[in-house]
Amino acid sequence: MGMGFGGSSVFNMASPSASATSVTRILRDYVEPAPARPRRILDVGGTRAGFAAQASLPAQTQLVIANPEPGVGADLPYAEDLPGNDPGFDLIMLFGVMMYLPPAELRKLLTGLRDRLRGTGTLLIAEPDPEGVVGRVEIAAKTVYALVKSLRTPTRFHFHTKGETEALLRELGFTSVTPREDLRPRRPFPLPPPQPPYFILAARR
Ligand SMILES: C[S@@+](CC[C@H](N)C(=O)[O-])C[C@H]1O[C@@H](n2cnc3c(N)ncnc32)[C@H](O)[C@@H]1O
Repeated sequence: MGMGFGGSSVFNMASPSASATSVTRILRDYVEPAPARPRRILDVGGTRAGFAAQASLPAQTQLVIANPEPGVGADLPYAEDLPGNDPGFDLIMLFGVMMYLPPAELRKLLTGLRDRLRGTGTLLIAEPDPEGVVGRVEIAAKTVYALVKSLRTPTRFHFHTKGETEALLRELGFTSVTPREDLRPRRPFPLPPPQPPYFILAARR
């Protein structure tokens, strides 16, 4: 993986993790209804300044952050580093991470995350929508930004559409895939360009 954009980057403002309202609704829909036992959340690519900062976690809820980026307060670099006997998660979030992963790596990650879900647990994906005018502008902006920040080894971005992602999730055995764009942050003003809206999918086995 190349450089990341970090938890406070302007590139994250359209992520559900940037909005206290969205975070509260995520907890309400996917964590609070979980069976009465200590609940567990995995934030893949999360940061302490993102979802963790916005969340009032219900009692006895553990939040684990997997992110290789230094200085973001992660508990471990990659989800693949979790021990084999980890008890699994009621909610796994993957917000703004797929763009770093070529198709084969994404498939491997999603398969591993599927196997980390407990029972009725949910994998919640949020990703800048590469389709449409704003999405295309952002592709160009990210490419230039990565090049300027890191001239020798620029980050390579891989843009996955909502349709491709939904098809992949179904192929990997998720039987329920539900659009949740209602979890997007609602802002009274347009986000500074280029900020495409995220597509959001909730997937269950
Ligand atoms: C655009 S930021 C999103 C941060 C946060 N999830 C949010 O929505 O605000 C992307 C983050 O994904 C991390 N990342 C990239 N590849 C990853 C991987 N394979 N596993 C975990 N984190 C990864 C990067 O280090 C970066 O911090």
